[in-house]
Amino acid sequence: QWYLGFIMSCEIWTLAGLLMLLLALWEVGCSEPSPSPEPLDTGTALHRQKRSWVWNQFFVLEEYTGDDPLYVGKLHSDVDKGEGRVKYVLSGEGASSIFIIDENTGDIHATKRLDREEQAYYTLRAQALDRYTNRPVEPESEFIIKVQDINDNEPKFLDGPYTAGVPEMSPVGTSVVQVVATDADDPTYGNSARVVYSILEGQPYFSVESKTGIIRTALPSMDREARDQYLLVIQAKDMVGQMGGLSGTTSVTVTLTDVNDNPPRFTRKSYQFTVPESLPVASVVAKIKAADSDVGPNAEMDYRIIDGDGLGMFKVAPDKDTQEGVITLQKVLDFETKASYTLRIEAVNRNIDPRFVNLGTFSDTATVHITVEDVDEPPVFSSPVSKMVVSEAAKLGTIIGTVSAHDPDSSNSAIRYSIDRNTDLERFFNIDATTGVISTAKQLDREVNAVHNITIFAMESQDPLQVGKGIALITVMDINDNAPVFAIDYETFLCEDAKPGQVIQTISAVDPDEPPSGHRFFFALTPEAASNLNFTLRDNKDNTASVLTKRGGFRRREQSLYWLPILIGDSGTPSLSSTNTLSIRVCDCDPDGMAQSCSAEAYMLPAGLSTGALVAILACVLTLLVLVLLIVTMRRRKKEPLILDEERDVRENIVRYDDEGGGEEDTEAFDMVALRNLNVIRDHKARRDVTPEVPIFFSSRPPPYKTVPDNGIFREFIWDRLKDADVDPSAPPYDSLQTYAFEGSGSVAESLSSLESLSTDSDQNYDYLSDWGPRFKKLADLYGHSEGSNMFL
Ligand SMILES: *[C@@H]1O[C@H](CO)[C@@H](O)[C@H](O)[C@H]1NC(C)=O
Ligand SMILES: *[C@@H]1O[C@H](CO)[C@@H](O)[C@H](O)[C@H]1NC(C)=O
Repeated sequence: QWYLGFIMSCEIWTLAGLLMLLLALWEVGCSEPSPSPEPLDTGTALHRQKRSWVWNQFFVLEEYTGDDPLYVGKLHSDVDKGEGRVKYVLSGEGASSIFIIDENTGDIHATKRLDREEQAYYTLRAQALDRYTNRPVEPESEFIIKVQDINDNEPKFLDGPYTAGVPEMSPVGTSVVQVVATDADDPTYGNSARVVYSILEGQPYFSVESKTGIIRTALPSMDREARDQYLLVIQAKDMVGQMGGLSGTTSVTVTLTDVNDNPPRFTRKSYQFTVPESLPVASVVAKIKAADSDVGPNAEMDYRIIDGDGLGMFKVAPDKDTQEGVITLQKVLDFETKASYTLRIEAVNRNIDPRFVNLGTFSDTATVHITVEDVDEPPVFSSPVSKMVVSEAAKLGTIIGTVSAHDPDSSNSAIRYSIDRNTDLERFFNIDATTGVISTAKQLDREVNAVHNITIFAMESQDPLQVGKGIALITVMDINDNAPVFAIDYETFLCEDAKPGQVIQTISAVDPDEPPSGHRFFFALTPEAASNLNFTLRDNKDNTASVLTKRGGFRRREQSLYWLPILIGDSGTPSLSSTNTLSIRVCDCDPDGMAQSCSAEAYMLPAGLSTGALVAILACVLTLLVLVLLIVTMRRRKKEPLILDEERDVRENIVRYDDEGGGEEDTEAFDMVALRNLNVIRDHKARRDVTPEVPIFFSSRPPPYKTVPDNGIFREFIWDRLKDADVDPSAPPYDSLQTYAFEGSGSVAESLSSLESLSTDSDQNYDYLSDWGPRFKKLADLYGHSEGSNMFL
């Protein structure tokens, strides 16, 4: 039988202890429990179950600071007769580390300081064992040691410090913010966790509700403009605020937010500004500002002109950023007309708080005086554009019109006029500097320029920097100074089978003049042609005329081209006319009257040639062209070393071959031009690998030689040349014709060179070749050679 032993130590008698004791008194005494009379080993006694008693809770106060272990309570089994046979054993949470038990008496002590806020209870198991048999005399039982709270934690503002805002001028009691303090102590037991709030700083402006921590305004009409921030200190104290309670504090920064409780006020009742009369429209004249102690939208304001003599001249608008009233110019100022303006300007708050309307008007007015300053202004033309008209027949010096400008300043100085020559480059006009009279300086031509747009300068004679500009638009009036001509170049033809009276061409005319009533042209054959038997002309009276045949049987072979002079006149006064000659071809026509071939035509397609054939011919021509081009370019490329070779001194070649040359066709090896005159600058022509034209060799001229040279010498000479050419690395790769002339030894003529007969013209004269041709021909016949790559004649 377990007994709960709970002996309160007299030093720690507390209210809590007493409370617990009362509960415990149910079955527990403050003294030693009276021993049970039942024997220790009575198994039947185990049936008495009193485990559901509250005994299985012990209480121990936290934060015990005494030196001795704190007595918690006592375990006792009524089996224990005090003979020392029963041994008490403790196990579970904190057993032997925090809680120790006297195994003989069952007294439990706490060896360490306990903190409820750390661990509020410990679950332990108790055993009563027979000391000798080590057998349990009681079933093991679980019990709890509760740690008893004491007020060892102060309230804390976990969310502090706080900031909050409240509109200025709020009524008393307006809630600002709620502060909350938390206390770690046991809220279910005692007052250790019951806090009350109080305000330490911030009175008399604010108050705090002691239970809720709600901060409220405490003064009416707190003005942000006077003071906009308050620092409050709020205290929370546990033990319901009683003496001995613990406390914590936090700060609350309360900012008053703005409401529109202030109207705009101009700092001055009147403003004075001065502007030059030359100020451009839309310029800023002045800025005025009405002050408003409110901020943000509550300080936004509109400005307007409510009165004054400057209505329409000026405009006032608020500057979004600065809230200034910006006065801008709307119309051009003129000092000479009005030199000062007075405006009444009102500033009104844009966002009005109806609560404060009764405090006063939310607008203010000020007077603005604007003085216009005189500025020296350039002359002004009475009309910016002067339109004038002049005939294109006007004689030089004809007066066209007058422009006029004046100085707008009070000084009214004299004006000098001039023409901006950039607008009259050809100087068609003159202007009288003092009167402004414009006259012609040059013959005008409407057909070239019908309207002259010239700029006139008007300059103050005292101050040439003051220049005004005007425009004179001078329209040139037409006179009939152009004769009509054919509208186009007619290509008239006539079929051979044309009948008499057939219209072969309808002609019209053009005339650059522009008579106001339109053109009216007259057509006629010239008097000489009037009696023409071949053609006649009919004026259609609609500015066209028809050319008709007068006879038939025109034959190309007889006459292929006819000229018909036609006179065209206009209706101007005086009328102008011109003679235009119509050329008429006689053509062979198809049955439809389409010209097939006109004798004088350079090229006429043969009749009946189909398009297909045409394309084929074209393709052939094109292919040939491409081929030729290809060959030419290939030759060019291969020839390059040759050209270099040719660059060498020609005389060297002569010396090397030790002959007189004479193959003038071989312009590569023997440039005879160089021989003719060594001072002649050599023409750097590319070598012309061209076969001499056949006729050269068959000239009808009689050969200038009489005898056939010795064969042996020639053969030797030719073989030498052939060998040289065959091993010559710079020789052209393709077959080429090289010509040499060789007189052989013992020539009486010394030289057959035709040097003397040559003209010194740089142009090659091949005439002499015809002299030599037959001779070479003979040689070719004798020694014609085509072995290897070179052929020699
Ligand atoms: C004449 O010239 C001025 C500029 O030189 C131009 O502004 C104006 O439009 C012109 N007037 C006419 C009718 O062409
Ligand atoms: C008219 O045609 C004939 C025959 O071709 C010619 O001889 C004559 O000169 C022509 N007359 C005129 C005016 O061309």
